[in-house]
Amino acid sequence: MHSFQKMDTFDAKPAITNMSAMHRRGSVSAPISGNMKLADLVDLDYRLLRILSRLEIKLGFGEASIAQVCRRCGLDENTFILLCRAYTDSNFRPSATELKDADAKVVLKYLKRSHKYYVETDLVALQKSLEKLLECCSEPSGKVIRKFYTDYKNELERPFDFEEQSVFPYVEALCSGAIPNGNGTLLDDEHNDIDEKINDLKNIVMKYLPEDVLSGRITETLSFLFLLREDLQSHTAVEDNILMPMIKMLEEGYGRK
Ligand SMILES: [Fe+2]
Repeated sequence: MHSFQKMDTFDAKPAITNMSAMHRRGSVSAPISGNMKLADLVDLDYRLLRILSRLEIKLGFGEASIAQVCRRCGLDENTFILLCRAYTDSNFRPSATELKDADAKVVLKYLKRSHKYYVETDLVALQKSLEKLLECCSEPSGKVIRKFYTDYKNELERPFDFEEQSVFPYVEALCSGAIPNGNGTLLDDEHNDIDEKINDLKNIVMKYLPEDVLSGRITETLSFLFLLREDLQSHTAVEDNILMPMIKMLEEGYGRK
């Protein structure tokens, strides 16, 4: 039997799904301070380059410190540091003081630009890579993989839309001093579903493609999938561990719970 034919029986929920993230998270264990050179921070964990680009911090900052670069960009330094810590360490939980000293608008800017990046850059690159891969596969195999990709894309865009249309405007209203209706609850279940769906897609590509598919192409697609999965897990950590407690704090400031 061709290995691809086993696809419908593959284990979609492996016991350990986040092994790479478990190994990589927490790599920035040293405390981050404003005096630290921004270049040293990126050296500690290159994935933070994504935060820089989403907050429109341009490269070419030389030997400047985090504080100097943030000042130059008109960016709140405390919030930038909080985002970096939450992004790189899923166990990081900010103190009440750290949350109070942070700027919710910067967190929203980061999250909105992340959504845009996932949709306009990451998903497009992933789709192109998958199409290249499928040139070597039979039509039925291609159909199954395209369906997994489309389902995953839809699953990913749904919480983005909800957050953009409901949660973020709610936070913006709170920040401007209004007492808005509704609430800022994020979609926990949706976050879990997204993680499962990308794992399914990753497992198909890694375990069940025909053996004659060029391994270089499979590796390229897998690299996209692993990077995207890891980045989305960090995105969820920022929403769960920074944005949600921030909303709670803002609501309590208005006597709401
Ligand atoms: Fe989000």
